[in-house]
Amino acid sequence: MVSLIKNGFVNMPVDKSLDLVVEIEKLKKEKNAIILGHFYQLPEIQDISDFIGDSLALSQKAASTDADIIVFAGVHFMAETAKLLSPSKKVILPDLEAGCSLADSCPADKFEEFKNKYPGYTVISYINTTNEIKALSDIICTSSNAVEIVNNLPSNEKVIFAPDKNLGDYINKLTGRNMIVWPGACHVHKSFSVERIVKLKKDHPEAKIIAHPECESDVLILADHIGSTSSLLKFTQTDSSKSYIVATETGIIHQMQKSNASKTFIPAPPDDATCACNDCSFMKLITLKKVYNSLKYETPEIHVANDMREMALKPVKRMLDISAKLGL
Ligand code: 13P
Ligand code: SF4
Repeated sequence: MVSLIKNGFVNMPVDKSLDLVVEIEKLKKEKNAIILGHFYQLPEIQDISDFIGDSLALSQKAASTDADIIVFAGVHFMAETAKLLSPSKKVILPDLEAGCSLADSCPADKFEEFKNKYPGYTVISYINTTNEIKALSDIICTSSNAVEIVNNLPSNEKVIFAPDKNLGDYINKLTGRNMIVWPGACHVHKSFSVERIVKLKKDHPEAKIIAHPECESDVLILADHIGSTSSLLKFTQTDSSKSYIVATETGIIHQMQKSNASKTFIPAPPDDATCACNDCSFMKLITLKKVYNSLKYETPEIHVANDMREMALKPVKRMLDISAKLGL
């Protein structure tokens, strides 16, 4: 649990008569701040973000902005990545409790033990990791560039992939590699029900199934298109179908619906019909009130110690260099 004090002033009461959208705009201008919003954020947070994107686009944006303050409407590892790339800027996460079950599924001490069993292996880690795991890695990747990053290595290179098992298995399948994969998972993406998706498809035979590669392989087998959040969005914008069953976190549907008002988007259902497990509870912690308070009080701030920054930044830079070289 993050203590109230550590979480800054995000839960301070706010005058109910304030129009938070207007106030946030004012504070942004006053403080030369920008808001980066991940596709899984609540619709109202996406709508006040200066830039909306997937993990790769957001880390690239964080590197390029000349704002003094970055408010990261996303989860902890994303804000940490922004801080790695912008050490002199103030990086704020509007709720320090916004973590990630996937990042948590790979503790650094256990991963180091695992890595030590495979001397000579190159470690590729998905960006959804703590700085400690990044520091133990050679190259970072995202779901947008993972296949290209792996393919960019010589075919005989021995590779460990962490932390997402489903993404690792999917890359192995696409590239024909035999990477050793850490058995981590995201609680949202592993929650989808094959039976309920099949039933939905029967009820909506015209709907195409689109899925994020963090989903289990039995869901991916059903998909007409597999890709990162930005790839799924692009597919719905360029494909001629009128409806889609969307197997990723529900937040992305806001952008899909905005750019395709006449199309229908059906969230893929989780196994447990009584829970909203296809919503990421961490992403959904970020509210307008918290964004307002975090901008007003400029807290909670993300800090990264210099030695950790040096170690964690190296593999992120390698990712950005390879992405630039490959034109991704
Ligand atoms: P992308 O936006 O890179 O596809 O990542 C999905 C995700 O799980 C972020 O937490
Ligand atoms: Fe982490 Fe999954 Fe939430 Fe993405 S959707 S932030 S991987 S828990």
